[in-house]
Amino acid sequence: MKKIRLAIVGATGLVGRTVLRVLEEKNLPIDEYVLFASKNSAGKKLRFRDRDYIVQELNNLSFDSGFDYAIFSAGGTTAKKYAPIAAEKGCVVVDNSSAFRMDNDVPLVVPEVNSEEIKNNHGIIANPNCSTIQAVVALKPLDDKYKIKRIVYSTYQAVSGAGRNGVLDLENGIKDYVQNEDNYSSIKFTKNGAKELNNLQNATDNTLSLNTNYKLQKFNYPIFSNCLPHIDVFLDNGYTKEEEKMINETRKILKRPDLKITATTVRVPVFNSHSEAINVEFENNFDLTELKNTLSNSPGIIMQDDIENCIYPLAINAYGNDEVFVGRIRRDYSVDSGINLWVVADNIRKGAASNAVQIVEKML
Ligand code: A2P
Repeated sequence: MKKIRLAIVGATGLVGRTVLRVLEEKNLPIDEYVLFASKNSAGKKLRFRDRDYIVQELNNLSFDSGFDYAIFSAGGTTAKKYAPIAAEKGCVVVDNSSAFRMDNDVPLVVPEVNSEEIKNNHGIIANPNCSTIQAVVALKPLDDKYKIKRIVYSTYQAVSGAGRNGVLDLENGIKDYVQNEDNYSSIKFTKNGAKELNNLQNATDNTLSLNTNYKLQKFNYPIFSNCLPHIDVFLDNGYTKEEEKMINETRKILKRPDLKITATTVRVPVFNSHSEAINVEFENNFDLTELKNTLSNSPGIIMQDDIENCIYPLAINAYGNDEVFVGRIRRDYSVDSGINLWVVADNIRKGAASNAVQIVEKML
């Protein structure tokens, strides 16, 4: 019988390592795994399924040996260069980057929502953006039942979504605070905020000497004790690319190309798991209890909606899980038919690694 081979590209990264963990938990019928990363990691050992795997450098010949599937978590540039080569050689690539998501001939898949799209692939399947994945798991059953008219997204996104360097910025910020707490409190209580803000904006290198004794690795400003309304690059229309991704990807996945959607995406000092406040307006009327039951009975959702006992979704509870947690569901009294909800998921697992592995699982 033919051996099934899976390539894990970007195996040394935050998402890649989580892909390995999820694969260990699932025990899929795969005979051979090969781990790839950049040349910086070539020869490095990674422990996986009780043995040491040697990481290989990804190159133009990597897929010549014949792979059935590949999970890419190595960013858009690497995906653009190597995913078409892999597909050409008969491998089906599940790519975590944004490189192919909006291509017409590339399915954009969340298994709980549109697994039927998988069969339409031509060698590449795109994994949606992390914040979109958790949103559509909650929104799809509501769209089916009540027809969504408009969505307003406000996100509170963890630093792990920015990769290893994002996590480092938060860790360094915390260490700096612990070591130099006095500096922080003097800044906190200063009346000269404007002057200090000037200093911050005039910083020429990436080191904000005002209140950081460390070099920022990822963000423009400290993420510790801060919220950054800036994820990915700014576009000409004033939105960020992250906001545009949420809007466009939601439309594609829900097959609602004209759906009215707006978004504000914010990076917050949380290590892992994205939280989202979602406001939804419907075409049709709904009964709130029935709506909650619909969500409870939908795949991939765990309801935590018991305000009497202060039970609602929390980032630290979602951490390490593959489900999407939904709560704080309440009627929006400012419109004829609408709700607010709070949606939380582990952005590295369901938002990236587990979703990709679930897609491979469906294909198997
Ligand atoms: P490496 O560790 O060798 O740099 P993260 O998003 O957590 O920073 O991880 C990015 C992942 O993508 C890492 O595994 C990284 O490998 C990998 N990567 C980056 N550039 C390339 C490349 N040109 N070819 C293969 N893998 C790459």
